[in-house]
Amino acid sequence: MPLDPIPVQGLLREIAEYLESHKKSSYILELLGRPYTPIHINEPSATPPLVHKYFDIATANATFAEPELQKIIANIEELTPQLRWYKRVDDESSAEFSNGHFNSIIVGQSGLISIDGLLIGLTLMAPEVTFPIHRHPPEELYISLSLGDWWREDQEWWSPGLGGIVYNSGNQLHSMRSGPEPHLSLWMLFGEAHVST
Ligand SMILES: [Fe+2]
Repeated sequence: MPLDPIPVQGLLREIAEYLESHKKSSYILELLGRPYTPIHINEPSATPPLVHKYFDIATANATFAEPELQKIIANIEELTPQLRWYKRVDDESSAEFSNGHFNSIIVGQSGLISIDGLLIGLTLMAPEVTFPIHRHPPEELYISLSLGDWWREDQEWWSPGLGGIVYNSGNQLHSMRSGPEPHLSLWMLFGEAHVST
């Protein structure tokens, strides 16, 4: 399927502007500005019923968000017909998680474009679902596109709020969970450690 890169370009620009306005890592701003390679081989998946059911509810609060965040969400909504949704492979995962989430890669070999050293994806979770505690060598930065809680090994559960930015250093144990509403977050994996899809 031929890819119109304009929405992806727009999303990268909006993410960079959002992070810049919140005075976040200049390193990730550099990554977001790197040249990218369009990926044409990945066919979009049919929209899973869970995504169909919860995506709009998860983003409904965006109308209360600052305009920069609204632009990111609008760009993602525009991209969704091109995305492939998948479930995280995790032997430890609960049925609740397995049945209650979908991920999608936007930037990466399984996504729409690739950028050296950067992986960008989405996680959508049904209400009352907890993402399994996990860790990975790359650093991670989340932008919370809905309400939700985060946990990290050095910090108890906390709520960053709509548009909250959460940073985890490499190999730190972490998790997130939805409350009574579905949860949508954008995550970026990057850093010195190898980033792969
Ligand atoms: Fe993670």
